[in-house]
Amino acid sequence: MFPTQNPLKTKSWKKLAAHATTLKEVHMRDLFAADSKRFEKYSIRHGDILFDYSKNRITDQTLRLLQELANEAKVKEAIAAMFSGTLINATEHRSVLHIALRYFGKDAIRSEGKNVIPEVRRVQRKMKEFSEALHSGKHLGYTGKKITAIVNIGIGGSDLGPFMVTEALKPYTVKGIQAYFVSNVDGTQIVETLKKLNPETTLFLIASKTFTTQETMTNAHSARDWFLKKAKDEKYVSKHFVALSTNEKEVKKFGIDTKNMFGFWDWVGGRYSLWSAIGLSIALAIGYDNFEQLLKGGYDIDEHFKTAPFEKNIPVIMALVGLWYTNFFGAQTEAILPYDQYMHRFPAYFQQGNMESNGKSVDRNGKKVSWSTGPVIWGEPGTNGQHAFYQLIHQGTPLVPCDFIAPAQTHNPLGDHHIKLLSNFFAQTEALMNGKTLKAVKQELKEAGLDKEAIDKLAPFKVFDGNKPTNSFLIKKITPYTLGQLIALYEHKIFVQGVIWDIFSFDQWGVELGKQLAGKILPVLKNEDPVTGHDSSTSGLINTYKQMR
Ligand code: F6P
Repeated sequence: MFPTQNPLKTKSWKKLAAHATTLKEVHMRDLFAADSKRFEKYSIRHGDILFDYSKNRITDQTLRLLQELANEAKVKEAIAAMFSGTLINATEHRSVLHIALRYFGKDAIRSEGKNVIPEVRRVQRKMKEFSEALHSGKHLGYTGKKITAIVNIGIGGSDLGPFMVTEALKPYTVKGIQAYFVSNVDGTQIVETLKKLNPETTLFLIASKTFTTQETMTNAHSARDWFLKKAKDEKYVSKHFVALSTNEKEVKKFGIDTKNMFGFWDWVGGRYSLWSAIGLSIALAIGYDNFEQLLKGGYDIDEHFKTAPFEKNIPVIMALVGLWYTNFFGAQTEAILPYDQYMHRFPAYFQQGNMESNGKSVDRNGKKVSWSTGPVIWGEPGTNGQHAFYQLIHQGTPLVPCDFIAPAQTHNPLGDHHIKLLSNFFAQTEALMNGKTLKAVKQELKEAGLDKEAIDKLAPFKVFDGNKPTNSFLIKKITPYTLGQLIALYEHKIFVQGVIWDIFSFDQWGVELGKQLAGKILPVLKNEDPVTGHDSSTSGLINTYKQMR
């Protein structure tokens, strides 16, 4: 394990704090005016991705100090520890090896002494064979009809990743296949989904790492009941239900033959599992070869992350620049804004990826931290966001660092839609950076014919301070490969930040308490007796519910 390190005790942290006070007075406008090479200096081209981080409140000195912080926090050692299978998920005593799922090199990757690659390849072969059998019509439904609908039943990491990717890569969908995702235990979602489906042509993928998650198991049982109502015979279940899981015992208990199980391992975190058998819905929706391209994009970034010096390392820079605002500018949130409708679930995916990973307040020694850790992540596709919440980003009081993501080429070249979309993408980061001064506002109002009194009254409301930080990712085209790259970039960003914040990024104990209490409350809801023993609010709510239902 790499050493634990209180970030506040590093030399660079103190220097960064002092540096931040001077930089708070500096406007990015002036930084751009003073250096015509700022874009060249602070942008990196990696294959078909351009990462521009020049519109940040940073200078050479900021970057030097942030890199010093990464060195003091032993980020290099941490990267090596992750890739070598060290048990860095220490509270669960596990390696963190999603990188092994997309590894195309020749070396062994070991977890607790065992090379995991042969098993990874075995499951990948099985996924490929199954996808091909389904697409070619070798695998048919129980009445001999072709499978045309796949329904992934899972939640959290067993839903968000595959859902996000199949949406983002919709133009690659195999003809004749429709993918559906059911996650919520609210029966509405499965009821509405099943209304559109025919049991004879539907395949259910029960996706759950643990195969014990209440929401998933409830939906899985309802799906099976629905299927059997029509199929009438348990023997047909094997043609229409497969399991994606690490838990063979529970899969058998549910009644799925383990030959219909696609396994993975406890060294794959739920929110990092789309690269594993959890990605079967992706392979079925867009074809295995495209799924492999996604993996290859991820692998490319793993190699970049491992080998590029920090000053050229995109995920390291993403992490450091993000942390700069979280810890030295008091930012508590970050927005992810894809200018691509197909990428509409990308912010939600990294909401879990980031918040479940770095939403921690205890350091790696079990002590309460006295520094900020993971920010609130949110976002919507542009330009919808512009007409909803950008007002706050431009003129509100919180500082919201934003990531703007856009493809240069669209999958749907329709009239001038794409250049209109991109004109907004370029304009927003420019506006956020430059803002609009009082002088410029007054001039504009004067030119519009307002008198002095009216100008003085209105002008303050029309001023934009600017100096709002953004990163821009301009991607040639959203393909399986570039999407794989992008996902891996964000994953590694989260990792680096977790290391510097000295927290464990790969457990999620915070989700347990609510689950435990729900488990206790459920039996109480099955009878009509008034409940006591909770706080008065909870008892009051439960008892009123019993009267209302
Ligand atoms: O709610 C927490 C969590 O454990 C996530 O980390 C995970 O992605 C999700 O639940 C689903 O878990 P499983 O795949 O075991 O059903």
